[in-house]
Amino acid sequence: MTSIAVIGPGAVGGTVAAWLAQNPAHAVTVCVRTPFERLAVETPEGPITASPHVATSPAGLSPVDWVLVATKTYDTDATMAWLAALVGPETRVAILRNGVEHAAPFAGKVAAGNLVPAVVDIPAERSAPGRVLQRRNGWMKVPAGEAGEAFAALFAHTPIQLEVVDDFVTEAWKKLALNCAGAVNALTLKPAVVAHDEGAAEVMRALVRECVAVGRAEGADLSDDLPDAVIDGYRASAPDGVNSLHADRAAGRPMELDARNGVIVRKGAAHGIATPANAMIVALLNAAAS
Ligand SMILES: NC(=O)c1ccc[n+]([C@@H]2O[C@H](COP(=O)([O-])OP(=O)(O)OC[C@H]3O[C@@H](n4cnc5c(N)ncnc54)[C@H](OP(=O)(O)O)[C@@H]3O)[C@@H](O)[C@H]2O)c1
Repeated sequence: MTSIAVIGPGAVGGTVAAWLAQNPAHAVTVCVRTPFERLAVETPEGPITASPHVATSPAGLSPVDWVLVATKTYDTDATMAWLAALVGPETRVAILRNGVEHAAPFAGKVAAGNLVPAVVDIPAERSAPGRVLQRRNGWMKVPAGEAGEAFAALFAHTPIQLEVVDDFVTEAWKKLALNCAGAVNALTLKPAVVAHDEGAAEVMRALVRECVAVGRAEGADLSDDLPDAVIDGYRASAPDGVNSLHADRAAGRPMELDARNGVIVRKGAAHGIATPANAMIVALLNAAAS
């Protein structure tokens, strides 16, 4: 039996926890802030349900084989109390988050060889605690190596595609290029369809061009046509698709603005690269939320 704890079973965490629980060799615990009875996920393959152990507090929990962190980046501090209970010397910890700074907050708390950063492309939306719409089967990419391979094996029974990659830095920045453009959805409070507006699309391209420049300075191998490819991707996606930054702003929650756009400004400044478009959208979204 493989013991797996998912911290933060929201859109992504709820989807992966439900899929992991379909394997009877997995003992799944979900670590929640808002409790629920069971997980119900509308997947592209049809509805799936799961009744994992639901933990509302770290008290009484002991180290597991795998911890999957799927809380938002702004909930990192609250995540640490769970980790203290769940992580032993052998525990592997996967970070299922957006951004390019997956491992940094956990360095020193988890042995480097046991940390698995994951680029996640599983579009999912939560309608209520424990209830999720998974729009595509999606994929996750993790760094090559023993821990990455073991993480991928956890999902062998699912339709979610797992890939171990040699150049994780590039994959993380490619995903950030997509995510940074999503700030336009959050600002306009319009779903993916807004990318069909040429003015909005040009702002998205400007955000991505800065991401490409900074990502290259960080060692990512990013192509010149990435800004146009990002717009093409938005235009080809479900017009009513809502990204998580947009969903957070619409719900009045904090936003992962620093992880998705602020990081481009911060790292750009460190490399002497101007990032006025990202700086502007960070300022406007912060002002709108204050
Ligand atoms: N959604 C997507 O389509 C998508 C796709 C790719 C990547 N991502 C990334 O995946 C990560 C997770 O995003 P998400 O959309 O899944 O977020 P989400 O739906 O907001 O889920 C986050 C979950 O964390 C829970 N949580 C917060 N603090 C907690 C704590 N102290 N203890 C236990 N649980 C806690 C929340 O509980 P409550 O129920 O109380 O709010 C919620 O269930 C983000 O980095 C996001 O950018 C998302």
